[in-house]
Amino acid sequence: MNFDILLKGGVLPDGRTVDIALSDDRIAAIEPSIDAEAGEVFDIAGDLVSPPFIDPHFHMDATLSYGRPRINASGTLLEGIALWGELKKEQTEDDIAERALRYCDWAVSMGLLAIRSHVDTSDDDAMKGVRALLAVRETVKPYLDLQLVAFPQDGFYRAPKARENTLAALDMGVDVVGGIPHFERTMAEGRASVTELCEIAADRGLMVDMHCDETDDPMSRHIEQLAYETQRLGLRGRVVGSHLTSMHSMDNYYVSKLLPLMAEAQVAAIPNPLINITLQGRHDTYPKRRGLTRVPEMLTQGIRVAWGQDCVLDPWYSLGTGDMLDVAFMGLHVAQMTSPADMRRCFDMVTSESAAIMELTDLGLEKGKRASLVVLDAGDSVEAIRLRPDRLLVISNGRVVARHQKSESALSLPGRPSSVSRRHKN
Ligand code: FE2
Repeated sequence: MNFDILLKGGVLPDGRTVDIALSDDRIAAIEPSIDAEAGEVFDIAGDLVSPPFIDPHFHMDATLSYGRPRINASGTLLEGIALWGELKKEQTEDDIAERALRYCDWAVSMGLLAIRSHVDTSDDDAMKGVRALLAVRETVKPYLDLQLVAFPQDGFYRAPKARENTLAALDMGVDVVGGIPHFERTMAEGRASVTELCEIAADRGLMVDMHCDETDDPMSRHIEQLAYETQRLGLRGRVVGSHLTSMHSMDNYYVSKLLPLMAEAQVAAIPNPLINITLQGRHDTYPKRRGLTRVPEMLTQGIRVAWGQDCVLDPWYSLGTGDMLDVAFMGLHVAQMTSPADMRRCFDMVTSESAAIMELTDLGLEKGKRASLVVLDAGDSVEAIRLRPDRLLVISNGRVVARHQKSESALSLPGRPSSVSRRHKN
């Protein structure tokens, strides 16, 4: 049998060594050994083959805007939101689309082939972003799954036009219902926004992904309402609480009640470790809180958790690369997930777990799934997190979309080898 592409000798995240054959846009076979003709054959002996990296939490309407119109001097979430308000007034639809597409190029080069991006729906200026990202979603569709969340950044009730524009964005084809209950004027309005937004999602058959309790205030408990509405409206498995940083500071007894409620409702969590460790705790002296939500405890309860990136070079974050391994690396450290099993889990939390949350059921390394995968210059998933290595080969829907040569450092040391690789081989 002839295949389009044959990959020889790759190592899967579960440690098996396999050959992988691709035909059209599908994985045709994964076997210990495949002897067949193929249009292109790649020798990837000993290299990790991963399902695509997936970022389940991003802001593509703001990315690559760092410094415009000024930098965030305090480094806080609230100054970032104010700064974003200034940028929205000056940026154009073309400007947003150009930056978004440039970011998507970076993403593809990193093997990041699916992104859930929130898009601001607070006001008329924000609707430029909705129109731009709907167009970008179509442009990148052949190689990157872009899922959009209608996100009333300035408050669903607090911003005068947010309700109207959020509904309009959903009418225009935005995929997921977002919200920001902790930014409403009162706790009561925050709770009411959760209720109404979940009802909108249930009516329209859509998923929900809210910025929820992104604050150091331990009394910010909108996640409780989100779990309740998920149950009441039959949205189990389709709802995400993003950030959940207040949980870091909550009373332990309350959390012991809250986590089983989240598990029962099958509400997933998306912490964003690069941003949470940067923005939270800014009002603390010492000890200074980390702000990351309780990831190991959620996993123990069977709650689905995926790492998100949130920001790259924008009003909230002055760094960022588009590499989900940077995100896993930070998450692993801050959550202290250092056992071998936990480190492997952190890798899944930027690949298969985020795919499940985004309902991308046809991604994964199995026969019959889409022919989308990444080959890395690493021997296993833990080494991939340690090194954040080059992506040697990125294939999306059966097409090679990015390639990179293996690199080694040349050395000139007396009595030592002439080159060194940072890969560790036992
Ligand atoms: Fe966010």
